[in-house]
Amino acid sequence: MSILTFAEKNINTAIQVLKNGNLVAIPTETVYGLAGNAYNGEAVAKIFEAKKRPFLNPLIVHFSNFAEIEKNCIITKSAYILQKQFMPGPLTLILPKRNNSKISPLCNNGSNYQAVRIPKGKLFLTIASRLDFPLAMPSANPYQSLSPTTAKHVANGLNNKIPILQKDDDIELGIESTIVDSRHDDFVTILRSGNITAQEISQYVPIKPVEGDIKSSGQDKKHYAPKKKIILNQTSAKEEQGFIDFGAGHKKSKHYFNLSKKGNLQEAASNLFKALWFFDEQNVSEIVVAPIPEEGIGIAINDRIKRASYDG
Ligand code: TXA
Ligand code: MG
Repeated sequence: MSILTFAEKNINTAIQVLKNGNLVAIPTETVYGLAGNAYNGEAVAKIFEAKKRPFLNPLIVHFSNFAEIEKNCIITKSAYILQKQFMPGPLTLILPKRNNSKISPLCNNGSNYQAVRIPKGKLFLTIASRLDFPLAMPSANPYQSLSPTTAKHVANGLNNKIPILQKDDDIELGIESTIVDSRHDDFVTILRSGNITAQEISQYVPIKPVEGDIKSSGQDKKHYAPKKKIILNQTSAKEEQGFIDFGAGHKKSKHYFNLSKKGNLQEAASNLFKALWFFDEQNVSEIVVAPIPEEGIGIAINDRIKRASYDG
């Protein structure tokens, strides 16, 4: 496994690897992605294979600019409004796919819609703007395990020869993008919560509850799971447990990680996967988590913790 710095020569290597139909792990402003040419079915198949992910579970295709999205997808009114506000950024839109789109049908299980996103990370945009194809890019972790936020996480999870680009000093949000079904003109539904909250979205487009003809694995009960058992809503921890705390009100324990001492939810979101990864690798019996306020980005944090703790 080669971890490459973001030096120009390594960026060129990554571009060449992608042009050759192979995969590269690239940091984005949310989490690390495992990228391959979305127009090339063989490259897309390699992504599923590397993650051991079922082909039925669709991939987000990542672009460097909106004009390229327009070539592949039909832009509904709701999508037009949301992209103006939030793209580039941690927002994924599901859109009707054009008949002449070159995106491999493998990306979305042969259906007539497609999830698309424009990350705002500088490193991603540098690479994507030098390619003449978009990138299919799920989080760079094995199926159903934690999303990676460092090159080391990627290396631990994906056991093969995929080059990994190291993060530059770009912003880091730490939780996957908000996924919005925007196939309709006048309303949207939120399929996965994220940094862009329902409250923000509802300022621009009405939100309807999910009605089920479209499913996101963002809705699987179990996802993002570490190997250890997780216990929610605890205000203290036993000596043998790992304690993921939030805010300043609780007693420190032996194995301790505070998501945000100041009680800042954005900071907590950026530390969440780091904390879960940390205790998954430590000698602790279980992971216990303090209550997190169910507001703003806290909704996405609680969503990820609940699914990480699902035991079934
Ligand atoms: O922040 C992110 O979105 C990261 C970075 C790398 O961009 N990517 C990411 O991709 O989280 P992934 O594949 O790990 O999660 C995307 C989720 C999947 O669970 C998939 O089921 C859902 O999005 N999804 C993708 N396309 C969909 C579609 N057309 N309809 C419903 N759900 C879709
Ligand atoms: Mg994922």
